[in-house]
Amino acid sequence: CGIVGYVGAADAPSQRPLEVVLEGLRRLEYRGYDSAGVALVAPGAERVASRKKAGKLANLVEAISLDPLPDATAAIGHTRWATHGGPTDANAHPHLADGGRLAVIHNGIVENFAILRDELLADGVQFHSETDTEVAGHLLAKAYRETGDLASAIRDTARRLEGTFTLLAVHADEPSTVVGARHDSPLVVGLGDGENFLGSDVAAFVSHTREALELGQDEVVTITPDAVVVTDFAGRVVEPKRYTVDWDASSAEKGGFRTYMDKEIHDQPQAVAETLLGRTDAAGRLQLDELRIEESVLRAVDKIVVVACGTAAYAGHVAKYAIEHWCRIPVEVELAHEFRYRDPVVNEKTLVVAITQSGETMDTLMAVRHAQEQGAKVLSIVNTHGSTIPRESDAVLYTHAGPEIAVASTKAFLAQITATYLLGLYLAQVRGNKFPDEIAEELADLRAMPNKIQTVLDRGDHVRVIARWMNSDSVLFLGRHVGYPVALEGALKLKELAYIHAEGFAAGELKHGPIALVEPGQPVFVIVPSPRGRDSLHSKVISNIQEIRARGARTLVIAEDGDEDVKPYADEVFWVPEAPTLLSPLLSVVPLQIFACELATARGLDVDQPRNLAKSVTVE
Ligand code: G6P
Repeated sequence: CGIVGYVGAADAPSQRPLEVVLEGLRRLEYRGYDSAGVALVAPGAERVASRKKAGKLANLVEAISLDPLPDATAAIGHTRWATHGGPTDANAHPHLADGGRLAVIHNGIVENFAILRDELLADGVQFHSETDTEVAGHLLAKAYRETGDLASAIRDTARRLEGTFTLLAVHADEPSTVVGARHDSPLVVGLGDGENFLGSDVAAFVSHTREALELGQDEVVTITPDAVVVTDFAGRVVEPKRYTVDWDASSAEKGGFRTYMDKEIHDQPQAVAETLLGRTDAAGRLQLDELRIEESVLRAVDKIVVVACGTAAYAGHVAKYAIEHWCRIPVEVELAHEFRYRDPVVNEKTLVVAITQSGETMDTLMAVRHAQEQGAKVLSIVNTHGSTIPRESDAVLYTHAGPEIAVASTKAFLAQITATYLLGLYLAQVRGNKFPDEIAEELADLRAMPNKIQTVLDRGDHVRVIARWMNSDSVLFLGRHVGYPVALEGALKLKELAYIHAEGFAAGELKHGPIALVEPGQPVFVIVPSPRGRDSLHSKVISNIQEIRARGARTLVIAEDGDEDVKPYADEVFWVPEAPTLLSPLLSVVPLQIFACELATARGLDVDQPRNLAKSVTVE
């Protein structure tokens, strides 16, 4: 969901609050949503003015143009991703209460909503939607009637809600105030001149101001045109952390590409380069300043468990191969939502590495908390500053991919893999697994990767042509070693973007079952390891290609420049530059991203906002 709040010139109602909020919602579209709405207040108005619509923002904008909204001094806006109740106009936010004098928007889930609803029904309150949010609205109205103060009313309400929430509210009696509360769900403040902003993240207001305040857990914020007051849920004033946003507004735009995803795929050399930037000291030793974790703790670690979801989990799979090889520490990779519920064996000597682009994925957050309860140290690899997971972690390593707008992850994935390499090499340095010159060599190889990724992008047309002509409704992906997670990610991208059946397999597993799926014409991508790589990995994969080719498969092969062995068995070869095997996923996944993006575009699908998906899944 996306949340925006705005308050401006108290004595001069205008269309600006509406414009700011709609623009903020547009910039938050990338978070995924299925309905949208706004509410405005103005001095002297009896009631809140509100519009809400199922579907895309364009529907809301059209509804407003047919039935214009009045000038206002404050506004809130919301894009909703349905949890309780389907994506209908009625269930869209804002929800009104207090006879239409109060409007509330909400991100998250109110877990005790049934009990609260019964209590409110007994009081004679009428409900107009199936949402858990409306409960919060009526509770807030009740508290406002008792206190006459919006900030203390939202504090009373917040204390009664269980679950996760960001709540924003406006009331007709306080036309120059927006209040917000956050618990396990994101909210940031933007500081303007005679106006102030609230947003789920800074993208909501970065075109107006780069000065921001980070809100902590369980805090309530009140914005008026000239002031921002933050308190905890008990009402004690707290001093929020101020920072300057270093993204410029244009980096949240498409930059000339057809879609955000196209842009983000092309941003990848930069995402990797920036993630590598400034990580060494003058002597060339790796230095991860922001890590905030003592070397003695890292030396004592006897096991690493990576927890993550979706694409981030595949970055974790790649990390396993690299970190185990470089540091000789066992690495387990677990989907965050499975981790917590299986009573995992973790203790003070376990380093739990949480990988997440948004820093808000609820499944991952819960795994982090569970790990900490068991005494483990948690290091998070995160792209979004000011988000919840880095704040709760013992250590953090930020990726510098910049804002990722398309719902399905591309550049954040490459940045995550890069960050895990840095972590692996840093552990090897701290624990003495490698000599400094060996680490320097690995780093030099890593620094060569952005140019090589660019080469793969420059060859993208070949992939696009094949994608446009693909008419199969099932595609398989095979890989071994680090090529295996690449195969899984290739399949995930195709499912997410093109809605076609796609599956990734470990190539060695083929003969144990999946080969039964292969029939004449079946497209199969095969990620071939470097012929210069370890053992007989290369020849084993060549044999796998032969096996499926013999059964009529159409083989689409990703291979290293100059690998003559693949040619006889490949219908198409997508060449990537030479690279050390462990680093090769940064190259081999790129043609698969381009393929999925182009195939989906050719089928007329919205690659930036695929159906049913959300960028930031803040529910378990
Ligand atoms: C959602 C997105 C995926 C993403 C996953 C993890 O499911 O649709 O693209 O990989 O969440 O997100 P995170 O922000 O934790 O990396």
